[in-house]
Amino acid sequence: MPQQFANVDDVVEALRPSYPVYCLRPQTLRRQVQRFDAGFPGTVLYAVKCNPHPLVLDALYAAGITHFDTASLPEIAAVAERYGDATCYFMHPVKSRAAIQAAYGIYGVRHYVVDHPVELAKLLDETPARDLVIVVRIKTPSDPHTVFDLSTKFGCDIETAVTLLETIDKAGCRSGLAFHVGSQCGAPAAFATALDLVAQAMRRSARAPSLIDVGGGFPASYVGAEVPALEAYLHEIRDALARLAPPPETAVLAEPGRVLVADACSLLVQIQLRKEQSLYLNDGIFGSLSEMALSSLRMPMRLIRRGATPATDMQAFTLYGPTCDSLDVLPGRFDLPADAREGDWIEIGQLGAYSNALATRFNGFFPETFVTLTA
Ligand SMILES: Cc1ncc(COP(=O)(O)O)c(C=O)c1O
Repeated sequence: MPQQFANVDDVVEALRPSYPVYCLRPQTLRRQVQRFDAGFPGTVLYAVKCNPHPLVLDALYAAGITHFDTASLPEIAAVAERYGDATCYFMHPVKSRAAIQAAYGIYGVRHYVVDHPVELAKLLDETPARDLVIVVRIKTPSDPHTVFDLSTKFGCDIETAVTLLETIDKAGCRSGLAFHVGSQCGAPAAFATALDLVAQAMRRSARAPSLIDVGGGFPASYVGAEVPALEAYLHEIRDALARLAPPPETAVLAEPGRVLVADACSLLVQIQLRKEQSLYLNDGIFGSLSEMALSSLRMPMRLIRRGATPATDMQAFTLYGPTCDSLDVLPGRFDLPADAREGDWIEIGQLGAYSNALATRFNGFFPETFVTLTA
């Protein structure tokens, strides 16, 4: 059982941690799932890669999530072995033959994604029966409002999609169409544009897919990068689906990651040393904070000091991580109380997504402590 506290200040008081601590708020997570469910006209698959921690998965499962977008055999195993009634979808467009065999044979996975004829041939080769739903992933146009464009790596054009749909049909499998507008997508209209591509593929192949999967990409509202509310994205999707008018038997799916978990977890780090205007922290870009280095995303920070109030005047600091690598520094400067000092803690908010999931063991540092908060 994880340790449970009312709030972050209680965590500091009880643990006085010199190691990073993830503070998970299951109630925030549940509320996000409810928000998504309320506006999305289909099945919600959680994108496990975003945060695969067992406590996060348990909180999502308790909130009603039983379908999972899994990218690898270890993710499939983690979900399937934890929840007997879970359905895993193998949504990575490039899979090893061994992973396909085990996903199909051991874990009963029947949904797979492809974006290339050679991957489709591999999938058909490695599966003994034609009881599959094979989902074709379409490339989406790059959008200046999207932080991480995923279509530079995956997704095919409409012509290839039509060929793939025909081959899937001829092989005796059911088909689907999917896309991913990119992670932290700032423009709800990107979903309408992508669903328009789905409509084109449906028209040109003259086939109704078994499912349409709108992927992930729903953003969190980070500091200085406000984005439209989740409801605006879901509204756009409902409108675009109404125009597309798929047959009633076509299932609609989404694979959100970030928007479900980003706000549900903060990270408590400690200042190990102050050198003038530089603070050396116990977590950094090789640990929980790599998204801050890979993008311009900024998370909120709050200084916490036991038994005394920090100064009210603020100062800009450079924040270094714990490894010996000089790359281990957060880009830019961060406003914190001017008297920030060794032993103080900083709560960094909105770190539920792509934080622990991306952490390395570089220099022996590995952030792995999770506690849950009731407030
Ligand atoms: C195939 C797929 N689905 C879903 C997601 C989750 O995306 P997000 O966290 O932006 O919602 C990703 C993220 O990389 C992905 O690659």
